[in-house]
Amino acid sequence: MQTVNDAEEQLKFDQRIIDEQKIEPTDWMPDDYRKNLIRQMSQHAHSEVIGMQPEGNWITRAPTLRRKAVLLSKVQDEGGHGLYLYSATESLGITRSKLIELLQTGVAKYASIFNYPTLTWADMGAIGWLVDGAAIVNQISLQRTSYGPYARAMIRICKEESFHQRQGYEIMTVLAKGSVEQKEMAQDAMNRNWWPSLMMFGPHDSDSAHSGKSMKWKIKRQSNDYLRQKFIDQTVPQIEALGLEMPDPELKWNEDRGHYDSGEINWEEFYQVINGSGPCNYQRLKHHKKAHKDGEWVRTAVRAYQEKQTAKNQTNVA
Ligand code: 3HC
Repeated sequence: MQTVNDAEEQLKFDQRIIDEQKIEPTDWMPDDYRKNLIRQMSQHAHSEVIGMQPEGNWITRAPTLRRKAVLLSKVQDEGGHGLYLYSATESLGITRSKLIELLQTGVAKYASIFNYPTLTWADMGAIGWLVDGAAIVNQISLQRTSYGPYARAMIRICKEESFHQRQGYEIMTVLAKGSVEQKEMAQDAMNRNWWPSLMMFGPHDSDSAHSGKSMKWKIKRQSNDYLRQKFIDQTVPQIEALGLEMPDPELKWNEDRGHYDSGEINWEEFYQVINGSGPCNYQRLKHHKKAHKDGEWVRTAVRAYQEKQTAKNQTNVA
């Protein structure tokens, strides 16, 4: 039940949102705002961490030492993004272990794109270019999200994602201008990753369960469909520059709208993947559980060290 004090705090909160002020961890916030942020931010963190798997799969098979160094660095960046985002989420009063439990029991989602396999080296190009490219389009708008720790984390993340996008596009340029087989590989990787990249923006606005509240609270600054269109408009000229065939025959410039038209996403596939039945969902969670279990000794050592330090400080005070 809302008290008089809560009602006053709610008014102040609403005004701060209108005034574009950031909400900080110790500020009063409506419970639904907190819950919605925990949901979105933790799913974002999980996506960064699970996203290390499909690319990590190619580190040992990168074609040159230079490619290997770049890919290794990119995958490490993604791990770092996950860590900032988990820390930012914890500032909302939930523990890391609870967040991991929600992921591993299938309650919390992560980006659907990472449930597809990476079949050839060209997937490293297509993922960097399309997946990180789509992630940036979404995350640039999140730099202005209303929750301070999330907005600040996004600034560094966007800078790194932009390097990821460039390295992916560079791989694609080399393949697209290489031998017939390399060009075919680039085309195939783009075709396979195109639709899942468009799905990254979520369902149509009319079907988006959380957009209403998230837009009102300025957690989300631009809608799923708006951002998806922005991504399509910026990517089609890049496909042309690569000299590849369009992955969707319906991609056509629409003079009246001032945007590219495109075909419809297979939403049945989208819902299957986000509900756990994509090609690699089982494998991704299985690997995460194993890695988490293998790392238990690190957490035990950290806890033991912290307990020792606390006991030492208490002795010093006494
Ligand atoms: N994959 C998985 N789940 C998705 C999804 C996707 N592509 N798109 C939507 N969903 C889920 C939502 O999480 C929600 O599920 P829930 O109720 O169980 O939480 C449901 O589908 C309904 O969708 P909504 O549109 O109502 O959800 P949102 O308002 O949260 O919008 C979003 C979805 C646009 C993805 C939004 O959450 C968002 O902007 N998130 C932050 C960005 C993010 O998570 N990016 C991950 C990209 S991967 C990445 O950055 C890694 C890098 O290496 C590329």
